Amino acid sequence: MTLALIPGSFDPVTSGHIDLVSRAGKMFEEIVVAVGVNSNKEAWLAPGKRTELIEAALADRCPEVNARVMSFDGLLADLAKELNVTAIVKGVRGVVDLDSETMQSEVNRDLCGVETLLLPARPGLTAVSSSLVRELFAGGGDVRNYVPPAVWSFLQSITPKKPKPAGFGS
Ligand code: PNS
Repeated sequence: MTLALIPGSFDPVTSGHIDLVSRAGKMFEEIVVAVGVNSNKEAWLAPGKRTELIEAALADRCPEVNARVMSFDGLLADLAKELNVTAIVKGVRGVVDLDSETMQSEVNRDLCGVETLLLPARPGLTAVSSSLVRELFAGGGDVRNYVPPAVWSFLQSITPKKPKPAGFGS
């Protein structure tokens, strides 16, 4: 059974992430989407909500993919070893991603012997990132083209935090 591990923060999951899972699903028999929970880093959404949104988006957008979602804390290499994965799969939007993903893939190969497959983002999705979605949402921007419908529905149910007005002392 070929198994691909697709890790990320998914804070929140974007259309780019779902496209990556869908494309990896054509190459691997099973996909594990692993939500990184870094206890030292404050996330926007709770791990449970991030997981729930990915599950809903996958069921809606690529039900044919044999995917499961889990969260993990600790090293990706340890999880890759524990799950005995065939490969780690990451998306690359441009040279900045390529640079950092190349370095991470080298470290992960050293730690667990697993190769990382880098897939270029589909044209039209190269600008999409979770941080962009968070920033646009906080400013009241329309993010519906950047996120799966499940995330869009969720975002409509919560109120964006308004940026503090500029003034003395800011
Ligand atoms: O979506 P992101 O924020 O780029 O995802 C980052 C993630 C979770 C894939 C990365 O931070 C990670 O691999 N975290 C686990 C800790 C680890 O193994 N660090 C060393 C990477 S070489």
